[in-house]
Amino acid sequence: MNVVVFASRKGGSGKSTLAAHLGSYMAENARPTLLIDADPQGSLTLWHRVRGLRDLGLHVGTKHLAATLAKARRAGAEWVLIDTPPNAEAPVAEAIWHADLVVIPMRPGLFDVDAVQATIQMCRDLKKPYAVVINAAPAKNGSDDLMVRDARGAMQALDVPTWSGQITHSPKLSLSLAHGAGVNEFSSGSPASEEIGSLWRALTRSFEAIKAMTSNEPQSA
Ligand SMILES: Nc1ncnc2c1ncn2[C@@H]1O[C@H](COP(=O)(O)OP(=O)(O)OP(=O)(O)O)[C@@H](O)[C@H]1O
Ligand SMILES: [Mg+2]
Repeated sequence: MNVVVFASRKGGSGKSTLAAHLGSYMAENARPTLLIDADPQGSLTLWHRVRGLRDLGLHVGTKHLAATLAKARRAGAEWVLIDTPPNAEAPVAEAIWHADLVVIPMRPGLFDVDAVQATIQMCRDLKKPYAVVINAAPAKNGSDDLMVRDARGAMQALDVPTWSGQITHSPKLSLSLAHGAGVNEFSSGSPASEEIGSLWRALTRSFEAIKAMTSNEPQSA
């Protein structure tokens, strides 16, 4: 079971957006998936209600996280996607503690690059694998936009793993959520849909790498 936590102290960076679109992608690909809405704002819960389907499980709240994850594992969940609030408080730390991988969405801007560092530090303190995903980026024009290049440079200088792709700013990503869908369902084959698919493949590869690393670790006697 792959537990992905979407975390960033910066509000509006795209945590709920990425969790919902990836959830929809997993539903479409028949991957048993549980969404956990650990943010009292309830964005993921609202999207799930608008969706009105039972293809994705939903657990709301931060209580009993360990028990909820154990139950999901027993039920055969392949993916668990946990959305968190924009702060660095105890419930976010607890979610990160349970993560196999933390996705830190980051818009490419000075304030965003600065704000994300508290979340990166939490992941480092808890020794959790993490990756920054550049979200709501200006469209590529052959190569990365200058803003994206700057953001990547800042992450590289801080030795922060950053997904090589990007999620481009696209109204389709907002519009599809308003219809309870993911962009893969709402606008299949669109560039936004391709980007979510490519993020999903990158996550899958990361999990394979993480699992290979942990299975090679010497076992304690
Ligand atoms: N790639 C994108 N293209 C267009 N709009 C986007 C994109 N990513 C996010 N948005 C929009 O930006 C807003 C904030 O996104 P979202 O709610 O996912 O951020 P968040 O990190 O979950 O915020 P919060 O910290 O408040 O929970 C939403 O209106 C969402 O539709
Ligand atoms: Mg949110």
